[in-house]
Amino acid sequence: MTRVPGDKSISHRALLLGALAEGENRLTGLLPGADCRSTRSVLRRLGVELPELPEDAGLLTFRGVGIDGLRVPGGGALDCGNSGTTARLLLGLLAGAGVRATLTGDDSLRSRPMRRVTEPLSAMGAEFREEGEEGRLPVRVESGVRHTLEYRTPVASAQIKSALLLAGLAAGVAVTVSEPDRSRDHTERMLRMAGVPIHEETVGSRWKVSLPAPPAGLSRWTLSPFTMDVPGDFSSAIFLIALGLLREGDPLRLKQIGINPTRTGALPVLERMGARIRYESTRGLDGDVGEPVADLVVRAGSLSATTVGAAEIPSLIDEVPILAAVASRAGGRTVFRGAQELRVKESDRIHALVSNLRGLGIEVEEFPDGLAVTGSERPLEGSVATYHDHRIAMAFAVLGALPGNRIEIEDPSLVEISYPGFWEALG
Ligand code: S3P
Repeated sequence: MTRVPGDKSISHRALLLGALAEGENRLTGLLPGADCRSTRSVLRRLGVELPELPEDAGLLTFRGVGIDGLRVPGGGALDCGNSGTTARLLLGLLAGAGVRATLTGDDSLRSRPMRRVTEPLSAMGAEFREEGEEGRLPVRVESGVRHTLEYRTPVASAQIKSALLLAGLAAGVAVTVSEPDRSRDHTERMLRMAGVPIHEETVGSRWKVSLPAPPAGLSRWTLSPFTMDVPGDFSSAIFLIALGLLREGDPLRLKQIGINPTRTGALPVLERMGARIRYESTRGLDGDVGEPVADLVVRAGSLSATTVGAAEIPSLIDEVPILAAVASRAGGRTVFRGAQELRVKESDRIHALVSNLRGLGIEVEEFPDGLAVTGSERPLEGSVATYHDHRIAMAFAVLGALPGNRIEIEDPSLVEISYPGFWEALG
C-alpha cells in the first residue's frame, strides 16, 4: 500500500480555521509542502502560535486565537509564496476581521488575478490598496467588511467562495454565494464540523452556499477546535493512479485517499477512457461533515479518448495536466473544453501543456478554453519547461517514468510545493 501526503486544500483550511477556533486543535496527516508552510508562517505573523508542520504526517497541536484574536502583523508584507489558496482565503479573512496588512507572493502568485476576491469583498464595505500591478498582489487590506453579501460569482472557484465565507465569519455577517457549478466544499464541511450551520442547495442551474448571521445576541460565531486526520490528497494520488494505469505491473494500491466527490471528477473521466479503478474500505461518503476516504486499487490497461466539458471541470480542475498527459498515451483524440480557468493557475496550464506535448512530438490543438490531445504509442523524448508549476512538472514526470520514454524535467524541486516525496513515490 502506498500513501500520498495530506490534502493541500484541507491542510490550508485546517490551519486557518483551527487558528480561529477557541481551544486546542489536534491535527494529523497535514501536508508539510511549501504552500502549507506559507499558510503557517503567515498565521504566525498574525499571532497564532503554530509549531513547524511535522514532516511525517504526525500529530500537530496548537491553540486557536478565536475569531477576534488575530493581531495586526508588524514588519513587512505577509508572504504567501506560491500559494493562491493562502492569498485569497487570507484576503477574505483579514478583510472580515478588519486586520490591516499587506499580502504578497512569488512571481507566479503576483501575476494571478485577485479582484475576483477583492471586488465582492469591496461590495461588503472592505477597502484595499493595490500596491503593484492592477488587480495583482501586493494588495493591502485598508479597512474591514461591514455588510452582508449575496453574490453570484461568474467562476466556480472554491477560493472565491471560501474567501467570502471567511469574511462573513470574521465580520459576523451573513454571506450567500452562488456559483455556476459546484466547486470543492472543504470549507463548508469544516465549518459544519466546528458548529456553524452552513446551508447548501441547487437553485436553477447554480449551486448556492449560505453562511447565516451569528445566533441572536452574539456578534460572532464561535468555532470549536478541530480533531482531524487529513486524508491523502487526491490531486497528488492522481499522478500515481496515472502511472498505475499506463505502466504494466501488479495492481497499485493507494491508502486513505480523500474521495470528496467535489474533487474526484477525474475518476469518471478515466473510467470512460477504460480505466479500472476500485474503491476499498470506503468511509464517510454519505455525510456532509468530515471528509470521505477510501483505499484505491488501480490496474493497468489500454485507454481510449474521451471528451471533458465545462460542467466537469471544477471537480477535476487541478487534474487536467495529468489527464492531458494520460490522453497522450490513449487511443484517439481527447478534448478538454470549458477549462479557461487553467490560464490563471500557477502557470497558464493550457499553454504549458500544449507547448510541452508538442515539444515531445504529440499532436495537440489549443483552444482559448482548453485543448485536444491525440494519443500516440511512439516513445517520447525531450525536455519539459515547467513554467514554475508543480503540477506541470509532475504530469510530465509520469510520462517520463514510462518504459521507452526519455523526458527531462527542467526544475524537479518544484514538486515540494504540493508533494514532498514525489520522486521517491514515482520509483
Ligand atoms: C483550491 C481551489 C482551486 C484549486 C486550487 C486549490 C482551494 O482553485 O485549483 O489548487 O484549495 O480552494 P480555484 O478555487 O481558484 O478554482
